[in-house]
Amino acid sequence: MAAAPTTAPDSVQAVEEGLRSVGYLPSASSLVSFLATKLGKPVLVEGPAGVGKTQLAKSLAEYLQRDLVRLQCYEGLDEAKALYEWNYRKQLLRIQAEAQGTGWEDVQEDIFGEEFLLERPLMTAIASETPVVLLIDEIDKTDQEFEAMLLEVLSDFQISIPELGRVEARTQPVVLLTSNNTRELTEALKRRCLYLWLDYPALEHELAIVRLHTPDLDETVARKLVEIVGMVRELDLKKPPSIAESIDWARALLLLGAEDIDERIFRETLSVIVKHRTDLDLVAERVGVKLTQG
Ligand SMILES: Nc1ncnc2c1ncn2[C@@H]1O[C@H](COP(=O)(O)OP(=O)(O)OP(=O)(O)O)[C@@H](O)[C@H]1O
Ligand SMILES: [Mg+2]
Repeated sequence: MAAAPTTAPDSVQAVEEGLRSVGYLPSASSLVSFLATKLGKPVLVEGPAGVGKTQLAKSLAEYLQRDLVRLQCYEGLDEAKALYEWNYRKQLLRIQAEAQGTGWEDVQEDIFGEEFLLERPLMTAIASETPVVLLIDEIDKTDQEFEAMLLEVLSDFQISIPELGRVEARTQPVVLLTSNNTRELTEALKRRCLYLWLDYPALEHELAIVRLHTPDLDETVARKLVEIVGMVRELDLKKPPSIAESIDWARALLLLGAEDIDERIFRETLSVIVKHRTDLDLVAERVGVKLTQG
């Protein structure tokens, strides 16, 4: 077990061990994570679905003993949901309370104070007294205007509020942005980030992950499972199975008490790893047949 660090880790090895100690088996991710904590740069994590992008941020927060602040991106996400919003209701109440005999000037000074601000994730992350891990998940779902706004926060670590002035960061978060590549991100954003490409893992690495999540599954079954998943990924599928599906399949096989993955059990449990009608047919035909022969 790595000692619980309250400050930045002092080597790649320390990050590697730290991530392992919280159940995340890193690949190239420990080097980039280490650099991120040292250089104070955000990390852009790209790769197909289910390869551990979001989990990396969660595990990093757990290992560094920091709170995780998460901004889940979606189409139409705006500053009011990402940065801050004025608490209109509270402002209104104050105006009503002060209505008698007070001029607008006085009230105005009152209602645009921090007390009337609703913090959203980006602001929470930089205003936190103790440094946090900030996860900006699925950044590719937002539009370019949002990206531009984000750039300002990520490069200056400050937020300008017209009525209030500049809010400077109290602490600097470790920032991870994830993307599934549904659109190309701007060069300006990439330039400010370290880059981590997470792909489907190599066989031995995936085997280790599956075994970590289902230690009770027989090793030969687990090995056969990742071999089959590897074969399935080579087919031209709409949606190849990810690590998440491998883990689900391992859990299902364990529950069913499977001692081997033969053609029958493969067909019966196929829908745990393949989730499109056309993919199911293709996989049953190509891989199912191989299992019969093998
Ligand atoms: N290196 C790893 N070590 C341990 N578990 C892992 C690892 N990589 C992935 N997993 C497991 O795989 C699952 C899927 O990972 P995660 O949700 O982070 O994927 P993702 O890349 O964010 O996918 P999506 O693009 O669909 O959001 C997690 O539940 C996690 O437990
Ligand atoms: Mg994710």
